[in-house]
Amino acid sequence: MTNQKDMKDIVALCKRRGFIFPASDIYGGINGFWDFGPLGTELKNNLRDRWWKDMVITPPIGPDGTPIEIVGVDSAIIQNPKSWEASGHIGGFNDPMVDCKESKKRYRADHIVVYMPKDGEGHYIAVDPDADEAEIEKRIKKLSGGKSIGNFETTTFDQLESEQIENVIGPDVKDAGTLTEPRQFNMMFHSYAGAAAGEENKVYLRPETCAGIFLNFKNVVDSSRVRVPFGIAQIGKAFRNEVTPRNFIFRSREFEQMELEWFCEEKDVPMWFDFWVEQRKKFWNDVGIPLSKLHFLDVPKNELAHYSSRTIDFEYQFPFSGEGYDELEGVAHRGNFDLTQHQEFSGTKLEYMDPQDNQNRFLPHVIEPSAGLSRGVLALLSEAYTVDENRPSGVYMNFTPEMAPKKAAILPLTAKEDHVPLAQKLYLELREEFVVDLDIKQNIGKRYARQDEIGTPYCFTIDNDTIADQTVTVRERNTMAQERIHMDKVADFMRDKMRKGADALKKAA
Ligand code: GAP
Repeated sequence: MTNQKDMKDIVALCKRRGFIFPASDIYGGINGFWDFGPLGTELKNNLRDRWWKDMVITPPIGPDGTPIEIVGVDSAIIQNPKSWEASGHIGGFNDPMVDCKESKKRYRADHIVVYMPKDGEGHYIAVDPDADEAEIEKRIKKLSGGKSIGNFETTTFDQLESEQIENVIGPDVKDAGTLTEPRQFNMMFHSYAGAAAGEENKVYLRPETCAGIFLNFKNVVDSSRVRVPFGIAQIGKAFRNEVTPRNFIFRSREFEQMELEWFCEEKDVPMWFDFWVEQRKKFWNDVGIPLSKLHFLDVPKNELAHYSSRTIDFEYQFPFSGEGYDELEGVAHRGNFDLTQHQEFSGTKLEYMDPQDNQNRFLPHVIEPSAGLSRGVLALLSEAYTVDENRPSGVYMNFTPEMAPKKAAILPLTAKEDHVPLAQKLYLELREEFVVDLDIKQNIGKRYARQDEIGTPYCFTIDNDTIADQTVTVRERNTMAQERIHMDKVADFMRDKMRKGADALKKAA
């Protein structure tokens, strides 16, 4: 059995089976926007619900053995524009953008890889970051008059001096001098609130969900019984006008985030930072991304975001990552940057007063585990995609039972009158507790193939024996092994499998 994963195949399966579609598909799509179809919505909701459960409903036990406290908010996407000045987004949420005057293409300067001849002779050759090694070698040979790649060293376009830019052959052209100098491009989408479209009515769509948490810090403290240390969680849409959206839903212009802001005393930061890194590892492992597939990057100081003094990026080997990894989540120590800024810009005191010691007023420090929900869905899809030439579908989606969009399918062997009513009875019973499918059409092989492709872990088939002895066939997705169980035991069987989670299917994965 082989398991090559190709992004093109995953994208095709997502469309064919109704996980994810290009937004405005019938109009040819719109770059950087995607719609979740029936199964993608279930999958996303499963990941979202597990995060919310782990954070807000049953948060972990803290390092001292007592349960910790986290509450949720659901804040507006559009907030007072002053809040984005305070957070640094209006001034600094920029990406360096480069245009090609000939191809009319636009690139992120820090994504363009530039090959510079080691001997200093000849043009610099830029390549698209998505190009594979063979393409790069071919391009370099062709444009350098036969030199091999070993004669070049690499940098990224944003590292070049102005006078070097003229000498660069852009990624999609054959002559040097067509790329512009990088320009800073603010990634926030804007609109106008109200009828007048003037600067005074200009508003922004939030580029990260955490903003609404900081803005409500005082409201939550004043209205709830939370005490530092505690957390505020939020899941929702964020918008970034990415210069180059790419890799399916990995980098899109509209996406969802799952963010926790954990407020604590400065002296406790190292303890909580480690605690949250461990909790987040457990989460990804539980939803089906084994730790062996993740890489943990302690982000170098010079690459940290303006608010962070330490960040660990959780990186996953997506099918387009080659030998490398790409970011799935970041756990950051944001200090008290945000509360300090909002206090200063709003003029509202945001200091927390320890209720046991009315003297002690302070702005808590923040640990922020910030995960992409849309990116998490892509990681689940990528991890689940399993090539198996031994089955008619050629592929199955190895979701954990908890993440699978459909937990089970009920399949009457034939559309005969005596199979269908029993199937309907089982379906109506199971759907009270589980998201299940009743599929009556086509031959059984085709229906198994469809369920394999959508990642349904269990299929229950109703046949003539069911009429005789009330037993059904259970087919397990990964092994394709079949056994018979009594119809009355199906709900218990499902409960047991759901409880076992990823372990229910481990042996066959
Ligand atoms: N509040 C911190 C923050 O927003 P970030 O690293 O910019 O940090 C956090 O984003 C997570 O949001 C990323 O790890 C990624 O999973 C997701 N994310 C960021 N930009 C995205 C985009 N354009 N498309 C999809 N997901 C994105």
